[in-house]
Amino acid sequence: MTNAPHGGELVNQVLAGREREAALERARNLKRLVLDGWEISDLELIATGAFSPLTGFLNREDYLGVVGDMRLSDGTVWSIPIVLGVSPEEAGGLKLDEEVALVDERDEILGLLRVEDIYEYDKEREAQLVYRTTDDRHPGVRRLYGRGQVLLGGEIKLINRIRPERFRELYLDPADTRRIFAEKGWKRIVAFQTRNPIHRAHEYLQKCALEITDGLFLHPLLGETKSDDIPADVRVRCYKVLLEKYYPKDRVLLAAFPAAMRYAGPREAIFHALVRKNYGATHFIVGRDHAGVGNYYGTYDAQLIFDDFDPGELGITPLFFEHSFFCRACGNMASNKTCPHGPEEHVFLSGTKLRQMLAAGELPPEELTRREVAEILVEYYQGKALTG
Ligand code: ADX
Repeated sequence: MTNAPHGGELVNQVLAGREREAALERARNLKRLVLDGWEISDLELIATGAFSPLTGFLNREDYLGVVGDMRLSDGTVWSIPIVLGVSPEEAGGLKLDEEVALVDERDEILGLLRVEDIYEYDKEREAQLVYRTTDDRHPGVRRLYGRGQVLLGGEIKLINRIRPERFRELYLDPADTRRIFAEKGWKRIVAFQTRNPIHRAHEYLQKCALEITDGLFLHPLLGETKSDDIPADVRVRCYKVLLEKYYPKDRVLLAAFPAAMRYAGPREAIFHALVRKNYGATHFIVGRDHAGVGNYYGTYDAQLIFDDFDPGELGITPLFFEHSFFCRACGNMASNKTCPHGPEEHVFLSGTKLRQMLAAGELPPEELTRREVAEILVEYYQGKALTG
C-alpha cells in the first residue's frame, strides 16, 4: 500500500477513448485560449492527479484560501495557487459555465476548461503572501506580475498530451509511480526534489534517508526553470551516470517532475511535499533553503513552515537536513549536527566559484562533485562559453 493521495483520491481528468473523441470534436468549435509552457504543465499535472485534490484551475474562494491561509475552501492544505490568468479582453468574451478549448501556441488542442469563475485579484498581495516579497527581481514574482489581470477558475479535462521526445521514459504519472512502488514492495518511500545536478551534499541527504526507508524516489523538476539554472537534458545525463555508478539499482526510481519552478521557498516546500505524496511517497527531504533563490528566505524557513500544520493534514513525513558538507578532519560528509570541526576543515565553494571553475575546464574537488558529474558539467559550461 502506497501513501493515500492528498484529499483521499487520485484525480484523473485525462480523457480516453470515445469520451476523448467526442471532446475533441466539441473543442474544435469552441473559443480558444492559448496556454504557455508553464500553464500546459499545470494542466497536465492537474489532469494526472499530481495536484490532487485539484480538478481544475482555482476558483476565487479557493484562490483566496490558498493565498491567505494555505488552505482550499474546504480546509485541505494547499500552499501554491494554481491559476489561469487571461487579459480583461479575453475574459470579457467569456460567460460563466461556458466550455473553452485550451490550446498551445501552435493551436494544437490540449484540453477543455469549464469556466466556473471569472475574477480579478491582487497581485501584490499574492506576491507578499506566497513569495514573501513584492520584489520583481524574484523570478516567481516576476512571472506573477506578468500574468493576466483576470483569473479563470474551473474544472479541466485533458485531451492531448504533448510529451517531450527526449527522456520519454522518465515521464511517469502518479498512477505509474504508485504501481511501480507497489510492485517493488516499497512501503517507506523517500522523495527528493531537485533542480540541480546532484552534488555530494544531495547524495549524502538521499543516502542518509535511504538508510531508513525502502526506496528513493529521485524526482528532479524538469519543467521551466530560470535561465541560469542548468538545463534539464544536461542534468538528466548527470543523474543517469551517478545512478549507474553510485546507487543501488533496485532501490531507486528516477522520474521527471514536469512542473515549473516557482522559487517560493517555504510555500513551495509544502507544495513539493504534497505533490510527491500524490506520486506515492511517504517521506520528503527538505534541506537547506529548499526551493529558494537569492536571499529571499532564511536557510531553514522551508523546514519551519511545516510546524504550521498537523502532521496528519499533510500526510507525508518531512525529513529535515542541516546544511551538509565534506569535512576533511572527519573524512566524510557531515553537517554541524554531526561534525565538531571548524569551517576551515569543510570543503566549500560558492555557486559562482564552482561555475567559474567548470567554465575554465577545471574539475571541482571530488568531495563536492563526483568526477563523472563534473565532467558533464565542464563540457556544458565550456560549450556555453563558446556559443556565448
Ligand atoms: S531546490 O530548489 O530544488 O530545492 P536544490 O536542487 O539545490 O534546489 O536542492 C534539492 C534539495 O537538497 C533541497 O531539499 C535542498 O534544501 C537540499 N540541499 C541542497 N544543498 C544542500 C546542502 N549543502 N545541505 C543540505 N541540504 C541541501
